[in-house]
Amino acid sequence: MEVFRIQGGHRLSGEVRITGAKNSSLKLMAAALLASGKTTIHSVPNILDVTIMAELLRRLGCAVSYDPANETVEIEVPETIEHRADYDLVRRMRASIAVLGPLVARTGSADVALPGGDAIGSRGLDMHIAGLERMGASVTNEHGYLVVQAPSTGLVGTQVYLDFPSVGATETLLMAGVLAVGKTVIDNAAREPEIVDICEMLIKMGADIEGVGTSLITINGVSELTPTEHTTVPDRIVAGTWAVAAAITQGQIKIQNSNPEHIALALDKLVAAGANVSDIENGFQVSMDKRPKAVDIITLPYPGFATDLQPQFIALNAIAEGQAMVTENLFEARFRFVQELSRLGAEVRTDGHHALVKGRAHLSGAPVEATDIRAGAGLVLAGLVAEGETTVHAIEHIDRGYVSFEKDLTKLGAIISREKTQDFS
Ligand code: EPU
Repeated sequence: MEVFRIQGGHRLSGEVRITGAKNSSLKLMAAALLASGKTTIHSVPNILDVTIMAELLRRLGCAVSYDPANETVEIEVPETIEHRADYDLVRRMRASIAVLGPLVARTGSADVALPGGDAIGSRGLDMHIAGLERMGASVTNEHGYLVVQAPSTGLVGTQVYLDFPSVGATETLLMAGVLAVGKTVIDNAAREPEIVDICEMLIKMGADIEGVGTSLITINGVSELTPTEHTTVPDRIVAGTWAVAAAITQGQIKIQNSNPEHIALALDKLVAAGANVSDIENGFQVSMDKRPKAVDIITLPYPGFATDLQPQFIALNAIAEGQAMVTENLFEARFRFVQELSRLGAEVRTDGHHALVKGRAHLSGAPVEATDIRAGAGLVLAGLVAEGETTVHAIEHIDRGYVSFEKDLTKLGAIISREKTQDFS
């Protein structure tokens, strides 16, 4: 068990370099299953989830190697692959569901363990299932597994309307559609940069996809794809976390290898809070020279405000001047971390989807516990400005989304260390 021990009150200044997006890399690795042969993916972050996805691909028959120094993964996909994703891996990483579409497309069937609930809410798969059924598959729930069987002639292209622009469902149907017979149209598709990234890789593999980055994606199925080489899109959520770190500590951070357009709304909120945001070559810079002003946030699918930046902005609002209303529309349990933030003296009241944050001039350091990746990031940011010492527990959550977080923070001037604890478990 490890904790971050933080001494608050230090301004951050310097530069950081952003690696590839976790939420893209994992799906790109799954997409490799769609073609036999060697696919190479660059800018894959050195995090546990990548190790879990590599293991999952190995169990499906692939040879997978990861070079952390180059952040490159090589996946050798055999002609024939297995079609089962076991519970022991899926329960550790919900993103394992990304193999569902490729497995049905490549093998005609998939047995994928149901991921169950997690710390940020019970995340459904109904849209994944309804879409696959529309494409002709039969889907049943057997002994905790989603058992999917395509017709013997393969999945059939069709029009699918998503009730909500779900990232996961869009990915499943994209990867199912590229090898389906005929045309698949995904209406109300997700438009996240990570979806665009997967589409770009699939197109390099020979897929025929139109409407990339729009809410109407049209896929003309092809009979075969070929392996490729691809570089993951930079992680916009990590970039956004550093942007808030600069603003909350009244510092100045150059955020290299990032695309500010991918978090335009969040950066606009930082400007409203009083920060200066400017483009630099290959990234952007955020600086702040006063106490931030509180800013209202409403999370929505892209290009709306990212739910994965919501806890970081609650932390910012907690020390801001004024009060802010934060509305969470994606994950019901994302406010769970507010109770932890309150331990630092934050004044936040939640009611269903809403959190009212009254900014306070000071927070005071205390032990807190990360409940998920982004909550953990929000608590670290709050710890950076809290008076005295904050220890953030359960940092294994943070490690899943932020590579060498404390090392980068130290480089920027934070006083933070990773320590073993004597926690009882
Ligand atoms: N939903 C359904 N039914 C479905 C699909 C989704 O009800 O068939 C609901 C979910 O329950 C949830 C909402 O729709 O309430 C959003 O789900 P979505 O499918 O859009 O998200 P996801 O694919 O489960 C990905 C990221 C999340 C990120 C969201 C939204 C990965 C591995 N995860 O999740 O990232 O918050 O998109 O942008 O890509 C994180 O990185 O911390 C994280 C949670």
